[in-house]
Amino acid sequence: PITRHYTFDVRLQNVTRLCHTKAMVTVNGSFPGPPIYAREGDRLVIKVINNVKNNVSLHWHGIRQVQSQWADGPAYITQCPIQRGQSYVYNFTLNGQRGTFFWHAHITWLRATLYGPLIILPKHNVPYPFAKPYKEIPIMFGEWWNSDSEAVINQALQNGGGPNVSDAYTLNGFPGPLYNCSQKQNETLKLKVKAGKTYMLRLINAALNDELFFSIANHSVTVVEADALYVKPFKTNIVVIAPGQTTNILLKTKPHPPHSRFLMAARPYFTGTGTFDNTTTAGILEYYTTTTTTSKDHNAPVIRPTLPPINDTAYVANFTSKFRSLANEKFPITVPQTVDRSFFFTVGLGTNPCPKNQTCQGPNGTKFAASMNNVSFVLPNTSMLQSYFFKKSNGVFTADFPTSPLIKFNYTGTPPNNTMVMDGTKVAVLPFNASVEVVLQDTSILGAEGHPLHLHGYNFFVVGQGFGNFDPKKDPAKYNLVDPQERNTVGVPSGGWVAIRFFADNPGVWFMHCHFEVHLSWGLKMAWIVEDGKLPNQRLPPPPADLPKC
Ligand code: C2O
Repeated sequence: PITRHYTFDVRLQNVTRLCHTKAMVTVNGSFPGPPIYAREGDRLVIKVINNVKNNVSLHWHGIRQVQSQWADGPAYITQCPIQRGQSYVYNFTLNGQRGTFFWHAHITWLRATLYGPLIILPKHNVPYPFAKPYKEIPIMFGEWWNSDSEAVINQALQNGGGPNVSDAYTLNGFPGPLYNCSQKQNETLKLKVKAGKTYMLRLINAALNDELFFSIANHSVTVVEADALYVKPFKTNIVVIAPGQTTNILLKTKPHPPHSRFLMAARPYFTGTGTFDNTTTAGILEYYTTTTTTSKDHNAPVIRPTLPPINDTAYVANFTSKFRSLANEKFPITVPQTVDRSFFFTVGLGTNPCPKNQTCQGPNGTKFAASMNNVSFVLPNTSMLQSYFFKKSNGVFTADFPTSPLIKFNYTGTPPNNTMVMDGTKVAVLPFNASVEVVLQDTSILGAEGHPLHLHGYNFFVVGQGFGNFDPKKDPAKYNLVDPQERNTVGVPSGGWVAIRFFADNPGVWFMHCHFEVHLSWGLKMAWIVEDGKLPNQRLPPPPADLPKC
């Protein structure tokens, strides 16, 4: 194992897409941001220097941060933001984890432009549980706004309405040939491949607000990993991936390609209400021959894939039901078989009263909000982890997050007349090593809509899921406690529920939230406090000296 040093200089850079040039916040001037490659067991030391006027913090999505809780990154949860002219060193060891991760900003909407792959290879001489691919290629889905993405959300929050949808989806930062303007500008991801080889594509959904369907024309792929955890391989033509999720797929190229070009395309899966931009981002898979490419190659027609309709929930449910942990001798899993602490959380939208002297665009002049168990989470103005560690949580947060919804109704039926939520900075406390179950129930308030729920500091097992209301008498009997998929971001189905389980073996303050940035802004988030255990390595270590101050 080695220590890898990086310097991330956060600075403005002019970037042009869709015929619009804007000065955007970047790391080292690159968009998307620079990739990090490491091996399991390595230590990462990443010095982040803030040279923009925005406050900044970075998160290493999916990394558990065992004994490095201060490096997790969500602003006002585990740290105060890094202010202009200041720096902070994220220092953590990649213990017991490998696979496809990503890093992204974790403050306001900065992650629209601040994100990059974080790839952890297995230890030397440790093979994948499948034949070594010929090549590995990260593909990051993102979104592009012609205007400043920070301004988009600030304006929405001020008006109490919804933010503008993005102007394009992107593949590795490129909108692709199906958007006007970008076609001429060559803003297209091109993958040149050889015939008869296996490529591993590391798919990362860094888009802000949309689950995506992804497909490559005339090729089926094999899913082998999700959220950096191996799964039992299965074949598919179309992948579904939510923001915050990663999926590794094996792509076998055809044996005897003519001069062929195939479109790889992604567009949203969406069941909510409201207007929606459903245009398609695309890249080109281009076969090259061993001899030099001819003009014939460049002019070959591009074959397009077929993607499901935008609201195809049946496809999504069928796709997600295929994920299983490997759960074999080499890759065993420990699923909690019994539960010490059990929670039932509703997740969904709601409303807040419109502040005086504002006109809000929500239903009946209200302000849009989102909540878990009717609590719309309000970020404090200091770091929760710090106030917890120094026992100064008075006035910062309260330890009374409800274990079940404050208002009970038919969650997936007719919504209640009262859609108001309550504001608060509430946490739920877990004793060290408790076996925890959380049932996440979608609600139909302001329209049923799926929510990719992400938990910091942990992977969890998805032991059950279904449509309609969770039935505590019948549904647990159908749980999969043998080989359930393990992940860090799970899609709560539109009009349905999922049940997750984990052991609370990582002390600290851990954020859990919808990875749709708009819902995060509206309050669909909460935090857990996991108490210390008895042994020294089961206790929260003291903060590093350069931890930013608020
Ligand atoms: Cu990738 Cu708290 O998020």
